[in-house]
Amino acid sequence: MIPRIYIPGDSGALALGAEKVAKAIAGELAERGIEAKIVRNGSRGAYFLEPMVEVATANGRVAYGPVKPSDVKSLFDGGFLTGGHHKRWLGAPDKIPFLAKQTRLTFARCGVTDPLSLESYKKHGGLNGLTNALALTPAAIVAQVTESGLRGRGGAGFPTGIKWKTVLDTAGDRKYIVCNADEGDSGTFADRMIMEGDPFVLIEGMTIAGIATGATKGFVYVRSEYPHAVAVMNKAVEIARKAGVLGASVLGSPYAFDMEIRVGAGAYVCGEETALLDSLEGKRGMVRAKPPLPAHKGLFGKPTVINNVISLASVPVIMDKGAAYYKDFGMGRSRGTIPIQIAGNVKYAGLFEAAFGMTLGEIVDEIGGGTATGRPVKAVQVGGPLGAYFPRALFDTPFDYEAFAAKDGLIGHAGIVVFDDTADMLKQARFAMEFCAIESCGKCTPCRIGSTRGVETIDRIVAGIEPEKNLALVTDLCNTMKFGSLCALGGFTPYPVMSSITHFPDDFKPAPVRVAAE
Ligand SMILES: Cc1cc2nc3c(=O)[nH]c(=O)nc-3n(C[C@H](O)[C@H](O)[C@H](O)COP(=O)(O)O)c2cc1C
Ligand code: SF4
Repeated sequence: MIPRIYIPGDSGALALGAEKVAKAIAGELAERGIEAKIVRNGSRGAYFLEPMVEVATANGRVAYGPVKPSDVKSLFDGGFLTGGHHKRWLGAPDKIPFLAKQTRLTFARCGVTDPLSLESYKKHGGLNGLTNALALTPAAIVAQVTESGLRGRGGAGFPTGIKWKTVLDTAGDRKYIVCNADEGDSGTFADRMIMEGDPFVLIEGMTIAGIATGATKGFVYVRSEYPHAVAVMNKAVEIARKAGVLGASVLGSPYAFDMEIRVGAGAYVCGEETALLDSLEGKRGMVRAKPPLPAHKGLFGKPTVINNVISLASVPVIMDKGAAYYKDFGMGRSRGTIPIQIAGNVKYAGLFEAAFGMTLGEIVDEIGGGTATGRPVKAVQVGGPLGAYFPRALFDTPFDYEAFAAKDGLIGHAGIVVFDDTADMLKQARFAMEFCAIESCGKCTPCRIGSTRGVETIDRIVAGIEPEKNLALVTDLCNTMKFGSLCALGGFTPYPVMSSITHFPDDFKPAPVRVAAE
């Protein structure tokens, strides 16, 4: 058998030098006259080990990482094609603690299969969900998704089945499935990993959504900063079309479904679902007032399902293994698994898929290993730029939508960004207001004007001008933004600002005045 070597083609791995490693391995194979197949897989998400190279041996896969081009010669000398020992030897990938502790449902194939091999996809359970869905009525598919407890992974946590039911029950000569792959939240990369590492799972999820709601056309709206994801998705759609997964007769059924990939121009607000629809229609991305809901009047005025990548990519496993199987994971009203993206100043950065319910402390200290600098953790921002900063005192909060909301926080797209004790929370609060001012679509006053006034007022606190009065003004402004904004950009910016003020009050005190020695 020809040896098989897996080298991730994932953007994160490429940023860490995977392309150079691939070239060095190809060169070494040629020099030694060894015939081998190099597979450019996705990443398994343990980014602190990337570029992680794997070889398929008679005893299963063996991983090495992080591999540098300078390691390649000695890897061959050490017999890595048969799993030989080397300083970069990690053993079986699924025994690596960071990976072994996970519950991989949505990301089961990511990093394992060849992303563009439909054969490999099927061999690992791909298309089982779609096949099962085709044997059901649309209403029964929607009922399964509702029963699974799946909630939108894009940020708001809205029940996916209820959204689908609204579209199913709404009459329309055309209906659309729109996948939100704008992934604008800081510290998040789950959507990208799926699109680059297991694109067929998203195609399968969108096709099931189409069949369930009566939509025949889908669009994936991908951010322009994801060129690799765009390329992989385009290729995967073409392969799926040729194989009859997409097209006039999905897997030979009477259902038609096809899809296209569209690239955004790079505005955070275009991740907001109605601004995204405007952008898809070729307009400037401005938030629309609701109602009408996109489910009633969405893309081009037609009933539209708009879901995040992870929401849609979680549907195939639900339709394959059943709603009860999926629902069995999690806690409270947060069912199933969530891909937690651990980033920032952290030792073990990466994607960790787990059932809802782990505490923030477990995620940061045990899974993330604390800070990369080795200094104490001061704050963790959960849920992107609109998420609250959590201090260590709140580390017992379980990863659950309601538990985070009860502590004035949010899970959002499940990105967590870790900060050590050198972080200045006054600066972070200013950054949140400035981010809102830059990214505001400008449609409503509390956000458009409020964010700019917020920056100015925080600047006065920084300058030591009437700090108490200005702090009260920021709090008042945050209340106006929270309750008066049209969308969550203006409405949630108060979370990072107020959590900084509430949990880190010392950072908002004026710098001590030096008294000259007498
Ligand atoms: C300013 C702003 C930015 C957003 N960015 C994203 C994004 O990048 N990706 C995403 O899936 N949802 C984003 N959302 C949430 C979407 O509006 C919407 O809730 C989501 O696409 C619905 O899909 P889901 O139910 O599957 O989560 C954003 C919301 C706001 C207010
Ligand atoms: S809150 Fe901000 S981004 Fe949202 S509609 Fe208002 S101005 Fe636009």
